[in-house]
Amino acid sequence: MSSSCIILFFLLLTIISVQTAIVKTQENTWKTKYFEQRVDHNDYRVNSLGSFKQRYLINGNSYKGGNFPIFFYTGNEGDITLFAKNTGLIWEFAAHFNALIIFAEHRYYGESLPFGSHSFANNSMLAFFTAEQALQDYVTLIEYLKATVASTNSPVVAFGGSYGGMLSAWLRMKYPGTVVGAYAASAPIWQFTSLTPCETFNSIVTRTYRGTNSNCPLNIRNSWKAIRGIFERGQPAKLKSLFHLCDDIKDKDELNALIAAINNVWVSMAMADYPYPANFLGNLPAWPVNYTCNILSKSPANEDALLMLISEAVQVFTNYSKDVKCFNIANGGDPPALSTNGWDYQSCTQMVMPMCSDGKNDMFEVQNWDFDAMTQYCIKEFRAVPREFWAVQTFGGKEAVAKAASNIYFTNGHLDPWSGGGVLTQLSPSLHAFVISDGAHHVDLRASNPHDTTAIKQARSIAKSLITKWVS
Ligand SMILES: *[C@@H]1O[C@H](CO)[C@@H](O)[C@H](O)[C@H]1NC(C)=O
Ligand SMILES: *[C@@H]1O[C@H](CO)[C@@H](O)[C@H](O)[C@H]1NC(C)=O
Ligand SMILES: *[C@@H]1O[C@H](CO)[C@@H](O)[C@H](O)[C@H]1NC(C)=O
Repeated sequence: MSSSCIILFFLLLTIISVQTAIVKTQENTWKTKYFEQRVDHNDYRVNSLGSFKQRYLINGNSYKGGNFPIFFYTGNEGDITLFAKNTGLIWEFAAHFNALIIFAEHRYYGESLPFGSHSFANNSMLAFFTAEQALQDYVTLIEYLKATVASTNSPVVAFGGSYGGMLSAWLRMKYPGTVVGAYAASAPIWQFTSLTPCETFNSIVTRTYRGTNSNCPLNIRNSWKAIRGIFERGQPAKLKSLFHLCDDIKDKDELNALIAAINNVWVSMAMADYPYPANFLGNLPAWPVNYTCNILSKSPANEDALLMLISEAVQVFTNYSKDVKCFNIANGGDPPALSTNGWDYQSCTQMVMPMCSDGKNDMFEVQNWDFDAMTQYCIKEFRAVPREFWAVQTFGGKEAVAKAASNIYFTNGHLDPWSGGGVLTQLSPSLHAFVISDGAHHVDLRASNPHDTTAIKQARSIAKSLITKWVS
């Protein structure tokens, strides 16, 4: 798997969050504030690098002060307002617990740029872009809030989804004096070398599709060869019209980009397999995988018939509203508003998440995990060298976490491919896990919806009782 694929995959976490704003029953509000944050937490010199403005969002409407809690969302890879718009659960919980709501932006994303517009200029400017520095930002901000707008007696609970969930869990592990517990939703803290096999992710995508009918993943698996066949027979124009592409397929690289974009469509729909319609690039129907696999349940008579079905199925994601002019494979069909820069760098340094596919246990083409190729890419792109074992060395492997950590609630959706790198079972009396059998990517953090399944509601009610214990 090429490194750019990995980057796209993780970027999707953000994108899926973006789309979730729609099914809100009421508008959740906040005030935007800025905190003067240290550029380098490990620099004690008088003439240090100085500070930058870290953005955070605050809502104190439910907060009663004193011993009442602070709910602190540990921002992940994107503009913090996206996460605030898509974590409706915090407002519901804050009302119940009389809590103060904070959403803190992750450095190098949104408006929280340590060196302003120069933050991505070169690897000296990027040197402070680490998860450790981000966690120290959160600790520093929490101490400031307790000393000013909140109370020093207020227990802090960390919340986060996806990479934000990893940060919540890591915040509790590294700074147990700062947060009393963490609600880590769809947090793949084990999606790293030596902890999770690289095939797991793609085999779960396939399982989610197969869960609706067995023809669906078979048709998808057969489509790759059919698509390549058209190109090899010298008919790129046929591909362009079949998939309503914006641009011609001029060479093998562009053919691979088309394949990668379609690949991303299937992955995204597994992550966004929510029980109600969501709005993203036009609308996505309720249960998009079921909807798509209904189209792909047939046994087409030949390759042309197969590709007609595939094109129709791809459009469930790219063109459900029927008004998208053409399929832009240059961005994999992603919204242009999202910048890939930040996550690209993080996956080239600390977030090395191996992925591969074998074409047998999954519905994708064979793609090996190639750490050396990725290293070459990262050196070329950022003059940075990825550290394959950073996560395990920094936070410990499975046994160390089970022994040393406490007060973390891990939730995962069984339909979500990221669940493969997540914590699915209770590790100790204070490390809880819940798998939402019909859930997708951090569906439980979203605002309650009339279509929520029993399992989604159960995940939230367990969270409520755990938080009650942590803050009492
Ligand atoms: C990196 O970029 C900054 C900001 O543009 C610049 O001041 C600095 O000289 C650059 N450093 C190197 C080593 O190129
Ligand atoms: C979306 O659907 C419309 C109407 O069927 C079609 O004209 C257009 O080409 C489609 N766009 C994509 C990206 O498939
Ligand atoms: C869609 O499929 C999931 C399993 O993947 C299942 O739990 C759900 O009930 C299905 N929804 C509908 C409307 O059939």
